[in-house]
Amino acid sequence: RTVYVNGSYMPEENATVSIFDRGFLFADGVYEVTAVLDGKLVDYAGHVTRLERSLGELQMGMPISSEELLEVHRELIKRNNLEEGALYLQITRGAEDRNFLFPKDAKQTIVLFTQAKSLTAEKSGLRVISVPDIRWGRRDIKTVQLLAPSMAKMMAKAAGKDDSWMVQDGFVTEGTSNNAYIVTKEGKIITRNLSTSILHGITRAAVLKLAAELDMEVEERPFTIEEAQQAVEAFVTAATSFVCPVVEIDNVELSGGKVGPVATRLNQIYIEESR
Ligand code: PDD
Repeated sequence: RTVYVNGSYMPEENATVSIFDRGFLFADGVYEVTAVLDGKLVDYAGHVTRLERSLGELQMGMPISSEELLEVHRELIKRNNLEEGALYLQITRGAEDRNFLFPKDAKQTIVLFTQAKSLTAEKSGLRVISVPDIRWGRRDIKTVQLLAPSMAKMMAKAAGKDDSWMVQDGFVTEGTSNNAYIVTKEGKIITRNLSTSILHGITRAAVLKLAAELDMEVEERPFTIEEAQQAVEAFVTAATSFVCPVVEIDNVELSGGKVGPVATRLNQIYIEESR
């Protein structure tokens, strides 16, 4: 692969970052993952807006303009002939001798690379387990401190399942790397309201807008695992999985373990509108 590091394109073997980089030492950095469909970026504007917000919340700015950043995204898609997959972008505060205080004049590190992945293949439903949400309190900032969700995903794997839904104070926050939804018997879509407890998903925003256009009823509020187990459907959304059905929660199958119509429909329409 050709990757991008601090202004230069190079083969991935040649790409290096300092051992003093604060992304490495303190997880002092933020990231974005943007889907690529038919060689085109999906919802770049949404991702760059969230990126600027994440940086701002950590008292950082953009190392390059959003126009230049868009150009880097496009150049990497071209150089890697990426048709379908994702672009990963990470910006850290940069390298300085280890110190808990933010350095004043460190030069930010910016890294981008592509990942080829099928996004449009038909999805079999996910089986999820619930795990305690042990992450920090600012999940609205898309930082690279992903050890807790990584551990949660390993717990799912150890249980023979696909993913975990994290639970705090009795309510589902979100999936390890996606936002979580249920559909009630009345056909209402429930997903947790935005706050510092969850990441404000770009796919979430797009799917809720779509649902409104399709006259589907949506309620943004927390829900429990027990309520989810009684739902007729469940699903998750993320840039790299679009709308993905969930068919089992803590060993309870929803609607006989079959992929539901709401998730299927939203996924199809989301893909159509993103093309
Ligand atoms: N994760 N919640 C969490 C905790 C996430 O990490 C993500 C995305 C989402 C969905 O956000 P969006 O729709 O903007 O992708 C929700 C990315 C894909 C990742 O870490 O790979």
